[in-house]
Amino acid sequence: NAGSILILPGDGIGPEVMAEVRRIISWYGDKRGLEFEVSEDLVGGAAYDVHGVPLADETMEKAQGVDAVLLGAVGGPKYDDLDFSVKPERGLLRLRKEMDLYANLRPAQCFDALADFSSLKREVVAGLDIMIVRELTSGVYFGEPRGIFEENGERVGINTQRYTESEIARVARSAFELARKRGNKVCSMEKANVMESGILWREVVQKVHDEEYPDVELSHMYADAGGMQLTRWPKQFDVIVTDNLFGDLLSDVAAMLTGSLGMLPSASLGAPMANGRPKALYEPVHGSAPDITGQGKANPIACILSFAMALRYSFDQGEEADRLEKAVEKVLADGVRTPDLLNEEGKTPASTRDMGDAILAALDAS
Ligand code: NAI
Ligand code: MG
Repeated sequence: NAGSILILPGDGIGPEVMAEVRRIISWYGDKRGLEFEVSEDLVGGAAYDVHGVPLADETMEKAQGVDAVLLGAVGGPKYDDLDFSVKPERGLLRLRKEMDLYANLRPAQCFDALADFSSLKREVVAGLDIMIVRELTSGVYFGEPRGIFEENGERVGINTQRYTESEIARVARSAFELARKRGNKVCSMEKANVMESGILWREVVQKVHDEEYPDVELSHMYADAGGMQLTRWPKQFDVIVTDNLFGDLLSDVAAMLTGSLGMLPSASLGAPMANGRPKALYEPVHGSAPDITGQGKANPIACILSFAMALRYSFDQGEEADRLEKAVEKVLADGVRTPDLLNEEGKTPASTRDMGDAILAALDAS
């Protein structure tokens, strides 16, 4: 038994892309002897339709008990008018909150065959493989006091950037652990020049490094300069660790270095469980794409690469993750393209299923 996985396909194209991931999980069982214990449940609108809530308590409990949760996407026009408390995205938020997933991992990987989709020059992005680790549960999006208040006869909007030492230390550890499985390099970004929380951030990251991860190369950069460097020469980075706000901005910038939304995986990790594996939720960055739902047009790669991240970061199967990423790379190099990856006239687009077939064939040949 290689570990347990809870699959939550969700809404829209979620079930369509997840069907291809299921076939890949089966392939690992049949061909590589990695037998995962897989269960499936409802989230989002699909859960609301059955239970009247976007995440049932039983599903939440299951999620807490598995090694990895794989989620497709939630939401869609059918649910737009629902009360805020039962909106599909509340299901996802509940998972993140109750599993206490404080480290959000957003890789920016540019496959050579897609380098022309980038907003930057080919030579700047071809072969790019960096990872942004964004603190996800604290910082200015949550700090108190917050609100719109009256002051001297006018209104004032207030948010508070607040980080405790332990909140910084735990996300720093996530980043250093990841770096050890990748290029062994971490760049920490804050604004220690103008922010108290930035001063503390820099100090704590340095301390965690010196005491626990002296083997990993650590550098610090102001987040604004980091934004410049990300678009000037992104290949200088391996792992970037930063707070919630800067991570929100920098991960979106990094995403556009690599092209289509249909290609971007993510992971959200929490504290290590009793078996040493971190609490983990893997999901594509994209949403439920109602405009293409049910047409076989969805690109399953973002979801497939999310599973590759699970292989690497939950199941310690780095070589098998490489195998899957190489299969994706091969298929793209061969010119297999879902519609979102096509910008030339005259090419026949591949369907979601065709893309899955091609990746399975590449795995067979690996
Ligand atoms: P979206 O990501 O669903 O779609 C944006 C555009 O990208 C659409 O044109 C879509 O067709 C395309 N696209 C997205 N994923 C694709 C894929 N795998 N292959 C090919 N094309 C793809 O974002 P949008 O349209 O803003 O939101 C649609 C619904 O999804 C909303 O209900 C929103 O709340 C929800 N959503 C859910 C997220 C999640 O589950 N984590 C994240 C973002 C939005
Ligand atoms: Mg954002």
